[in-house]
Amino acid sequence: MSLLTILRYPDPRLHKRAQPVAEVDARIRRLVDGMLQTMYDAEGVGLAATQVDVHERVIVIDTSEKQDQALILINPELVWCSDERVVGEEGCLSVPTVYDKVERHAAVTVAALDRDGHRYERRVEGLTAVCVQHEMDHLLGKMFVEYLSPFKRDRIRTKMLKKTREEQQELRQRA
Ligand code: NI
Repeated sequence: MSLLTILRYPDPRLHKRAQPVAEVDARIRRLVDGMLQTMYDAEGVGLAATQVDVHERVIVIDTSEKQDQALILINPELVWCSDERVVGEEGCLSVPTVYDKVERHAAVTVAALDRDGHRYERRVEGLTAVCVQHEMDHLLGKMFVEYLSPFKRDRIRTKMLKKTREEQQELRQRA
């Protein structure tokens, strides 16, 4: 299994809206496995299919210390959100090196299908709750930087374009 390529902001494909998964079959299980491997390799805690240019409602999350408790969310829906909200520092594998504060529900209950296509519900809080909301935004084509001021977003956009340009130049020099 090879690693999947993670799209980087401001790639317009990150703003596509994901479609529901029609059937959890071998193709979807392969996608889940590839996403998990890609997320662990990048040392992230969550990844949405949108970020690997697959526009279907699939998310993988693992906020455990040992990274051995994968949460797989296929066709996720929020069935409950706490009134309590928290502000936390967020980052994203599609916006490397950028972290900023975003307000989210402190706890949520998510309903989804697992890797075998079985429906389950899970109540999560803390970092996992933030992660679920962040990744579900990805499926709607929404990036966490869109919660920031237009000024900050502009700066991030410029920084990412520059970073991508420099990396491509480095690759060309090595070739
Ligand atoms: Ni993200």
